[in-house]
Order: sequence, then C-alpha cells, then structure tokens
Amino acid sequence: LYIGVDLGTSAVKLLLMNETGKIEKIVSREYPLYFPKPGWSEQNPEDWWKQSLEGIRELTAECDKSQVAGISFGGQMHGLVILDENDEVIRPAILWNDGRTQKETDYLNEVIGKERISACTANIAFAGFTAPKILWVKENEPENFKKIRKIMLPKDYLAYKLSGVHCCDTSDASGMLLFDVKNRCWSKEMLKICGITEEQMPKLFESYETVGTLKDELAEMLQIPNTCKIVAGAGDNAAAAVGTGTVGDGRCNISLGTSGTIFISSKEFGVDPNNALHAFAHADGNYHLMGCMLSAASCNKWWMDEIIGTKDYRKEQAAIDKLGENKVYFLPYLMGERSPHNNPNARGTFIGLTMDTTRADMTQAVLEGVAFAIRDSFEVAKSLGIKIERTKICGGGAKSPLWRKIIANVLNIKVDIIKAEEGPALGGAMLAAVANGEFASVEEAAEKIVEVVDTIEPEQELAAKYEEKYRKFAKIYPTVKDLF
Ligand code: XUL
Repeated sequence: LYIGVDLGTSAVKLLLMNETGKIEKIVSREYPLYFPKPGWSEQNPEDWWKQSLEGIRELTAECDKSQVAGISFGGQMHGLVILDENDEVIRPAILWNDGRTQKETDYLNEVIGKERISACTANIAFAGFTAPKILWVKENEPENFKKIRKIMLPKDYLAYKLSGVHCCDTSDASGMLLFDVKNRCWSKEMLKICGITEEQMPKLFESYETVGTLKDELAEMLQIPNTCKIVAGAGDNAAAAVGTGTVGDGRCNISLGTSGTIFISSKEFGVDPNNALHAFAHADGNYHLMGCMLSAASCNKWWMDEIIGTKDYRKEQAAIDKLGENKVYFLPYLMGERSPHNNPNARGTFIGLTMDTTRADMTQAVLEGVAFAIRDSFEVAKSLGIKIERTKICGGGAKSPLWRKIIANVLNIKVDIIKAEEGPALGGAMLAAVANGEFASVEEAAEKIVEVVDTIEPEQELAAKYEEKYRKFAKIYPTVKDLF
C-alpha cells in the first residue's frame, strides 16, 4: 500500500493506493490560511504536520497497516519554511501566492538582472518564488534570518518530520530560484546572491527517490512498519502531472485548484525566452514548462462563498445558458498575477456590466475569466512553437462539467477526462510505488494506472465565439493595468 499526500493551500488530501494503482481511500483535512496584510499569505507548518499525521491515521484506520510500504507527496510549491538550529520552525511559512516581495523581485530582475538570474536558474524572479522571500526576511526580519539553519519547501517539512531527513526534490526545488534546473543542482551563484550557503539547503533527490524511512517513534504510533519508505515527491503541479499521466514528451495538463496551471511535459530542457512560462524539472526525471495563475478555482470560491453566499455551486452554474454570448468580462487577478503578467499588484475586475446583467452572467464571467487567463499562458506556449491538441484536467474546478466545456472551447483543444482526478495525491502515491519497484519508471506507472474515460471536444461555433471574446479579454489588462 502507498500513501500520497497532497499538501494543498486550503487542505491536505491523503490517498491510499494499492500496488496495482487502485485507489482504496481518500481523506482530506483543512487548516487555516492567513492573510496578515493585503497581498500577504501565510500558513503554520505545524498545522500542516498535525493535520497530515491525523490524516494518515484516518486514512489507514481500516487497512492492514503492516502493508504500508511508502509515503510520498505533492506539495504547494515555492513556500518558504525556515528552521533554526533545533529544527524548530522560525516563523510562519510565506506561501506561493504571497505578493510582499515586489522590491526583492525587482532587485533580482533589475539590479542583478534577468539574464544573470536566468543563466543560473532557467527562470526569472516572480514575487511568489522562494529566493525573493529569503531576501525579504533578510531585510525585514534580520533576527529571524540569522537563526536560519535549514531552508525548505512545504512538503519537505512533512518528509523531514516523517524521516528526519532534510530533503527536497528537483521539481519543487525548481521553483525556489536557487536551483540550476538544467543541471539539476543548487546554483552556487544564486545562493550567494541571497546570502545563504549550501549547508542551509536540503539534500536534493529526484521525485521518485527514497530519502529515508519512517522514524521509529512514528512507526510505533501509526502502527506502520519502520521500513516504510519516505519518498521525495514533487511540487503539486509535477505530482498532478504524474497523476494525470502528463509525463514524457509534449503532454499537457491543466489544473484548476486554488491556483490555475497549464503544464507541458518535455524530454528536453528548454527555456521560454520571454520568461513568461516557468522552466522546471519534472518528477519523471525530465523537464516541463508551466504557466501559473494565482487565483483559479479560488475566484469561483470567492464569488460563490463571499459574494453570492451559496455552497451550491452546481445550482448557480445550472442557470448559465448562453455560452459564448456573455457581455461581461472578469479579470481573475484577486491575488495579483504571475503568468504571464508577473504583477503582484494586478487586481480582479468586472467589465461590461449593464442594467440587465444577471447574477448568472457574472458567475459565467468568473469561470470564463479564469479560462481566458489560462489561454494567456497557452498562447505563450504556442508562440514557442509548441503544439497542443489535447489536455488532461484536474483540481477541484475540473469537477464542473460546465467549466471543463468552457476550457475546451476557449482553448479550442480536446480535454481528456481521467478516471481518478486526484492529481497530486495520486501522483504522490505513484512516486512512492515507483520508489518501491512496483513500476520500472514514472512513465510506466502512468501508462498502467491513468485511464481516460471521456473526452470533451471543442464545438466549432462556440470555439469561434470564444476566439473573438478572448481577443477582447486580452486587451483589458494592458488597458487597465496602470490603475492597479
Ligand atoms: C506553481 C504555484 C502553484 C502552487 C499551488 O508555480 O505557485 O500552483 O504550487 O499549490
């Protein structure tokens, strides 16, 4: 049996998979997300750990615990977790969607220079990446900076608590801006630029490699053997790609979670010369390009929960009956935006309201705005000569048939629906199974486990209408950006 832990932004989701890839059980546990100042976003690593541990107990309550042979992860990327000399957490983690580091990001991109940064790491600085956050702590919390003995990413904190090993995998390390993606090692030059040493960094592994075994005291407490392997795992997008079979060359996955991503797997290392897409290592040992929007399903959640005040998303969406006809546009930049605008100060906007605008029009505009924003990154990929004819889809938002249809038509590509849309949690369990030799490679695991059950085809007429709408959408941000 294998456990996949998806350490998300709103909750940790845990999945139990057997050695053939069958999902036995899924549990989920929430924890708070704090916005201490506008644009800031933090969580307590202790909350992640407590809920993950409770989650493992709940997940394994009815199974033969002696059969649990591996645990691995997909984790929210880029979050800065810092530990002191006693391996205690120094301050709350600063998350991937935190926008406080405009000054540090500008310093890296403008003073050190995009070319130099990109030569070291294959990427430029974005506010959510880890390196600017380290510079922020150095400048704003020098006492905390001095205490740092280890720097790690969110899911690596769980691996450390379970195994006692300070580790990180290459896919997640890619999002730190401290990692030489091409050569899959820490960038000495970037570490120096950020005023940190290699000793402060965790040990690097490929996602499917074992970092250690379950600590004795935890083995006893959880009744799981102490031979259970703790496997490095991946950033949540790379793990989701594994879980949707987006491995090897030229495959695409779209994730509609708190963030929205478009992920393109590649056997070759490649960089977007405009730096709009991230160039990262993949969990299958290869590489990938990715566009990340900071608010995707979270826009819909905000609109439903906070503004409309309903939990019945399906009922709200059922009132939508004019796809391709909506006059209302929505810019989904509720937490600023990463790809492709790289502007933490961008903001959400409705445009085109009239006296006869309905609540359904606005709900529809929110779903369409997210799809158009994903199309922005899709366009960048197309401009690099990448041909995408179909994609997989996962994440909470992907459960909406309406949203899937909108995505298929806005992008004008086929959307393959897979049997288990569990993305990162399934990917994590698959990586643990690969580390235990159940499958010869991540690609083989994906081939044997991932099953496409349906395909949404774009409809010519609707796709043409959305083409026109997208052209208009694409003009809004450049027109209003100076207002933010
Ligand atoms: C990717 C990114 C997000 C988080 C969400 O670059 O920042 O997708 O990983 O958990």
